[in-house]
Amino acid sequence: MNTQDYFRDGVAVVTGAGSGLGRAMVQRFAAAGMGVVALDIDGARAEETARMVRGTGGQAMAMQVDVADAAAMEGAAVATARAFGACTVLCANVGVQQFGALDRLTARDWRWVLDVNVLGVVHTVNSFLPLIRKSSGHRHIAVTASSASLTPGVRMGAYTTSKYAVLGYTETLRMELAEEKIGVTSILPAGMITRHLESSAAARPAALGQAEIRREDIDVMMASRKMDTAGHVASPEHAVRHLLEDLAANERFVITHGEYRVQVMETYEAILRAHDRGQEA
Ligand SMILES: NC(=O)c1ccc[n+]([C@@H]2O[C@H](COP(=O)([O-])OP(=O)(O)OC[C@H]3O[C@@H](n4cnc5c(N)ncnc54)[C@H](O)[C@@H]3O)[C@@H](O)[C@H]2O)c1
Repeated sequence: MNTQDYFRDGVAVVTGAGSGLGRAMVQRFAAAGMGVVALDIDGARAEETARMVRGTGGQAMAMQVDVADAAAMEGAAVATARAFGACTVLCANVGVQQFGALDRLTARDWRWVLDVNVLGVVHTVNSFLPLIRKSSGHRHIAVTASSASLTPGVRMGAYTTSKYAVLGYTETLRMELAEEKIGVTSILPAGMITRHLESSAAARPAALGQAEIRREDIDVMMASRKMDTAGHVASPEHAVRHLLEDLAANERFVITHGEYRVQVMETYEAILRAHDRGQEA
């Protein structure tokens, strides 16, 4: 079966679909003949994504949701069932960025990042899993982690912590759903040219006050991760170029782009050295 046939007639639900990677995912699924549901805290941008799909003859619905709000996500699943009767691919893609040295982040900053990036994924999956289970055909859940899940950098500790948690969650989900033949994939993009900082600032609850963004934090972070911005920052469209093939193959990890093999090797070699020391008498 070719990859397009694998997805055709399915229904894809994507969070964070008003922009960047989420919008590019929606467009990829729609081009494969799937009905799509675009969810975003920015309802106007979600609707714009759905309109783009309808403009090319596809079927699309949009809804304004905050992934940190479990009840809102339940509502989105009910609306999806009503409109499409199924969910065969779910992309839990929302993540917000919060720069700052660890000792400058407040407890409220932490709570927001963890509520959206970690519990947001949990609410997304918990709300849609019953519908996925009832849906027939090839079923898949993709969760957007980050290169930060493998290569930590300074000045983005809250984000990195949340993306490590996302990876642990998704790895467990993959094991727990394997018997039901629901595929699960962790997507780990490196830097992308998106509205991430702008949309994170817009989505931040007013009660937290404005996030303090220092240019210096971004420069120090980039230097600590030894990543070359010129070569390793990509468009979201580039990041999704193999998405359908990767999901159809039920890849465990998808590294969309970016070159950080050296950092990954350093980390895993350190773990293996620690492991081997642990075997010594
Ligand atoms: N941009 C990068 O460099 C980069 C790198 C690695 C991983 N990622 C991850 O990719 C994913 C997509 O980010 P992007 O770069 O496309 O950013 P983006 O800003 O273009 O898109 C994110 C979307 O999420 C929405 N959103 C924010 N908070 C929300 C909430 N509480 N509920 C619902 N929607 C919410 C925003 O309105 C926005 O439309 C995120 O998980 C991000 O952490 C991004």
